[in-house]
Amino acid sequence: MSGSSAPVGVFDSGIGGLTVVREIERQLPHERIIYFGDTARVPYGPKSPETVQRYSREIADWLVGEGVKAIVVACNTATAHALPMLREYVKVPVIGVVEPGARAAMRTTRSKVVGVIGTAGTIASGAYERAIHAIEPSARVVARACPLFVPLVEEGWIDREATRLIAREYLEPLAAAQVDTIVLGCTHYPLLAPMLAELAMPGVQLIDSAAETAAETRRTLIERDLLAPSSSTSPAHRFVASDDPDHFLRVGQRFLGAAIDRVEKVTLG
Ligand code: DGL
Repeated sequence: MSGSSAPVGVFDSGIGGLTVVREIERQLPHERIIYFGDTARVPYGPKSPETVQRYSREIADWLVGEGVKAIVVACNTATAHALPMLREYVKVPVIGVVEPGARAAMRTTRSKVVGVIGTAGTIASGAYERAIHAIEPSARVVARACPLFVPLVEEGWIDREATRLIAREYLEPLAAAQVDTIVLGCTHYPLLAPMLAELAMPGVQLIDSAAETAAETRRTLIERDLLAPSSSTSPAHRFVASDDPDHFLRVGQRFLGAAIDRVEKVTLG
């Protein structure tokens, strides 16, 4: 086994995908990561599939140019709209967040009535329904777009009454359908998990796909003989934003759960 010390590329529409980086770091401590946050063009949630595909292609081109050995699409909206296209478009393996989230949900649910929340684009794409039904055709999926959550989290309104009121309304159809599991199908929602757990019916499990996505990344690197040699300790990651690197540096630490030393700026498109 020879492995590869090339970096793993991770991208998101902005900062939220750092929750996935955090898990990759935990499960693959020898991997060097290049993270691209498209802060100039965030949010992807309300944009058309064609636009999100174009942005995703541009970022993949840039990451491949930087020599990555695999790409992790940490953004649910980009995974929902662009994963099949990216898998054909680039030669390196591409891992998304939707299939891992669906798998984790189906391992967790007992009733097979599953809720999915995400951006308008993710929910309209039907990607989670497809991924869940591919695992369990008889599952019932209750999907709900929650477009106000991303701006609320970006504002840091994590534990506010206004956010709680909006969340209660968003979760209402899921409660009515008596889901026993809810997939947090958006990079920002894990930060709202304590509030959502409090508002959901007792016993409802919340699924954050970050851990399962990191596990899939690990499996993929092993299968392709691309794991970094275990001699590479504390690899230096690179953080790149397409706009406002200072904001990325400040807010990013909340998502990453660790300090970020430096953020580069790279403009695409
Ligand atoms: N990263 C996006 C997602 O996971 C949320 C933010 C956005 O709308 O761009 O769907």
